[in-house]
Formats: sequence, C-alpha cells, structure tokens
Amino acid sequence: MRKKIALIGGGQIGQILAMLAAQRELGDIVIFDIPQLENPVKGKALDLTEMAPCGDYDAKVTGTSDYKDIAGADVVIVTAGLPRKPGMSREDLLAVNIKIISEVARNVKQQAPNAFCVIVTNPLDAMVYVFQKVSGFPKSKVVGMAGVLDTARWRAFIALELGVSVEDVAGTVLGGHGPTMVPLPRLTTVGGVPLTDLLDKPAIERIVDRTKEAGTEIVKLLGTGSAFFSPAWSAIIMAESYLKDKKRVVACAALCEGEYGVKGLFIGVPARIGAGGMEKIYEISLNDGEKAMLSKTADAVRQTVAECKVEATA
Ligand code: APR
Repeated sequence: MRKKIALIGGGQIGQILAMLAAQRELGDIVIFDIPQLENPVKGKALDLTEMAPCGDYDAKVTGTSDYKDIAGADVVIVTAGLPRKPGMSREDLLAVNIKIISEVARNVKQQAPNAFCVIVTNPLDAMVYVFQKVSGFPKSKVVGMAGVLDTARWRAFIALELGVSVEDVAGTVLGGHGPTMVPLPRLTTVGGVPLTDLLDKPAIERIVDRTKEAGTEIVKLLGTGSAFFSPAWSAIIMAESYLKDKKRVVACAALCEGEYGVKGLFIGVPARIGAGGMEKIYEISLNDGEKAMLSKTADAVRQTVAECKVEATA
C-alpha cells in the first residue's frame, strides 16, 4: 500500500511540496487548507493529477478542507499560517501563527497520531515547539525544517563564490532559523578542502552574513510572501529520509534535552532521520567562539518560545 502524505497548508510552499512528493512517488498526497470561497487546493490537486502522465508518476492527489481526509497519514508537513511580508520579522508572525499551529496540532493528533511531522511555518523554532507541546507527540516524531534550508543556502553561496559545483560543498548550519543562526566555516569543506584554505576571513564573513539574511533577501525581492521552492525541497528531503529509512544526517530543528547545553528547546542541530523519525542528535565539538554563538542563538529561540505561553495538552 502506498504511503500517505498530508500537507497542511496548500499555498506557495504546499503546492510545490505536492508536486515534489508526487514526482518522487513518495505516496498519495492530501492537500488540506481552510475552506475558501473557491477551491484552490482541489484545483491544484486536479492539476497535479492531470500532470501525472507527463511527469511519469503514480500518485493520488486530493485537496480537502476536512481533517478527516488526512486520517492515518504517515507524514504530515505543515506550512499553514501567514507568510512574512516585507518589513515584517518572523516574530511579527508569532501571535497569529501560534493559533493556527495549535489548531493544526490538535487535528493532526486526532487524525494521524503516528505521523512523522515536519513543521515549516515561521517563526520556525517557536512553531515546532508549539506543535510538539499541543500534540504531545514524542520528540522523534516532530521536527522543524530550517537547517536543511539554511545549509542549502550556505552551500549555494559558497559554490557561487568559488565557481564550483554545489555538490562538492559540504557543511552545516546550526541554531535558530533567523539572524542568529550559526554557519560553521571551520567545518565546511569543498571537495575535501577546508573552506578556510580557500577564502579569506572577510569573504567568509560576507557569505555568513548573506546566509543569515537569505530569507529576508528573498522576501524583499518577491514583494509578497517568502521563499517557496527551496523550503519545499528541504522539507521533502526530511520526509523522504523518514519514509525510505535513508538515515540521512541533516540539520533540523530537533528537541534538545541537554545536547549542546540546550534543554527543552527546538534548535537546529545535525540529526539522523530514518524509520524511527528523528533518531539521533549528533554533537559537534565546538570551539569557544562557536559555543558562544550557539548560546546566543539558543537565547534568541528561548525568548521567542517564552512569548508563546503554550499549555501542553498531553
Ligand atoms: N489551517 C490550514 N491552512 C491554513 C490555516 C489553517 N488554520 N490558516 C492559513 N492556512 C493556509 C492558507 O490558506 C495558505 O494557503 O496556509 C497557507 C499558507 O500558504 P502561503 O500563504 O502561500 O504561505 P507559504 O509561502 O506557503 O509559507 C507558509 O512557511 O516558510 C514559512 O514563513 C512561511 O509561515 C510561512 C509558511
């Protein structure tokens, strides 16, 4: 039997998620969105159904506004919420998206209690926290999509700077999904060559800064809304690793319970994703400077989470 993937939110990211999940034949796809005057998610689902002969995939794609249709989903990817507008910080979104994520969490708990849940809605570190608290799901089943995207941006900018293939740039970005995130130049390599041997300090700093502000750079260019292609593919990487038990080790917002000196917060850390969900957090021996930056990003996440004032239901 095919796996079932529920996409909660069928907007910009949701529609790309649906297309990628179908093309990669991850399973049957249900796109859920709130009832609207017209039926955009039903239209998108039908369009993807009609694209299947060209795209060479077999997947049932449906759109719905009834949570019952996500029953028994194996994977849930949440993009429901309001996106960031120009001049708006991720934190501005907090109040409105807390309400939405809480409602989503309650419904997912009821309809798909065993699902592996990937949260994408911003402000990410707080939304994944709220989802886990309200659903009461184990930490292995709830992750936030941020680190895969932040790392992709870091790798893309380095490849651009050096004129090399992105495939050969390896590295990771830790911490919160915002300006305090921590790209790690010391541990980044290009075809095995340390980045610090290839670029001088000012050049590296420039790329670090661009990575931290990459989401904002896109928001400004788009004019309305925020990035959608790269966030969608990043979430698919996490879902696919779970569904196929690939055991990829990727940066994701995982619940830390002492790892990296962080307790009770979701922050971006390297984690293994396989059939058990978020199976393991890997700890890196950081130097003092990196530790200080991680502590700063954890403080920023802690502050946002404190503003959430969410009561656990389980
Ligand atoms: N339940 C389900 N869906 C909802 C709800 C809700 N309570 N409230 C809003 N939505 C839907 C909207 O109707 C919309 O279709 O969520 C969808 C969000 O889609 P977009 O507005 O196009 O936003 P998108 O660009 O997809 O980003 C979604 O991901 O990266 C983050 O910052 C981004 O928080 C934003 C989220």
